Amino acid sequence: MRTVLTGSVLAALAIAALGSGGAFARTDPPAAPAPAPAPEPSAERGHALVLRHCAGCHAVETTGDSAFSEAPPFRTLKDRYPVEDLEEALAEGIMSGHPAMPQFQFSAEDAADIVSWLKRLEGA
Ligand code: HEC
Repeated sequence: MRTVLTGSVLAALAIAALGSGGAFARTDPPAAPAPAPAPEPSAERGHALVLRHCAGCHAVETTGDSAFSEAPPFRTLKDRYPVEDLEEALAEGIMSGHPAMPQFQFSAEDAADIVSWLKRLEGA
């Protein structure tokens, strides 16, 4: 009887530990690129930013051609690299890979918003 009780108490503890472990994992900030939907307001701000700064050359929507034919449509960037990789480049102003394109430097928040919009385009 005694061992049976101990066993069930341990089992209950184990279940409790598993449960709280799961909850803890969910509240952790997601460091890995998750296929989670981009936060709506952030993507909208990013959309406005790329319309203002990039749309003169790049297609920034889910469809359409780039105004500057050499500039890749933003929805195709994901075929080259994870668009998250651009966030740091945007915030540090190191997007100088292409001479025709002016150098940009965005705040960390703006860079995150732009990437959020780019992630939206991935579904297109
Ligand atoms: C004046 C035209 C122009 C503007 C404005 C412009 N780009 Fe570009 N961009 C280009 C051209 C042309 C290319 C392709 C040429 C190349 O890769 O060398 C390009 C390529 C890129 C690439 C691909 C680089 C790579 O090596 O894979 C990214 C990412 C990019 N642009 C982001 C942006 C963002 C973000 C903005 C707005 C903040 C922007 N561009 C605004 C002309 C422009």
